[in-house]
Amino acid sequence: MAVITDSQALANLDETLSPTQIVEMSIKQILTVPNPVLKQVSRPVENVTDDTRKLMDDMLQTMYAAPGIGLAAIQIGIPLRVIVMDLAGEDEKPAPRYFVNPEIIEDVEELKAWEEGCLSVPDFYEEVERPERVKLRYLNYYGEEVVEWAEGMYATCIQHEMDHLNGVLFIDHLSRLKRQRAIRKVKKAARDKQLETSE
Ligand code: NI
Repeated sequence: MAVITDSQALANLDETLSPTQIVEMSIKQILTVPNPVLKQVSRPVENVTDDTRKLMDDMLQTMYAAPGIGLAAIQIGIPLRVIVMDLAGEDEKPAPRYFVNPEIIEDVEELKAWEEGCLSVPDFYEEVERPERVKLRYLNYYGEEVVEWAEGMYATCIQHEMDHLNGVLFIDHLSRLKRQRAIRKVKKAARDKQLETSE
């Protein structure tokens, strides 16, 4: 997911990373709509290994640099069920979270509408209704199983990111008209950017 403010990105990089990590991690390109890769269904990770952790490190750095609050592996073109997230506010310490093979094992009927954005649909925000609490099961950075309830922004964000694992974008929850408007906006911005750089 994307946020509107961006002053946190660099501060987060300084505080969370050791010098070795900064050398080893790399910022990846984030795919945007209508790239068909974003519609792929991601496959489960068999074992959480150092390669998986390297992927999560790269994803976190890419997300902080964007800046965003959540990122799924498919957004950098890797079809694995891996998500990174950091919901810390601007004045709070960074709090990275890592999810491998996340599942929703229970949810509630009550829906909550949040204004969502997505790094794959830059500069477009719309309200989406989702269950306001979900019970999650996932593997963490170390491959340990975690079961917990998510609520508030955490619930919204994890459902948004888990949609990515199934090739679903938040604009797929909107009307066809709004979805087309979002895609047109992103395509136009990409074209304008290309024109600028070729001039
Ligand atoms: Ni997204």
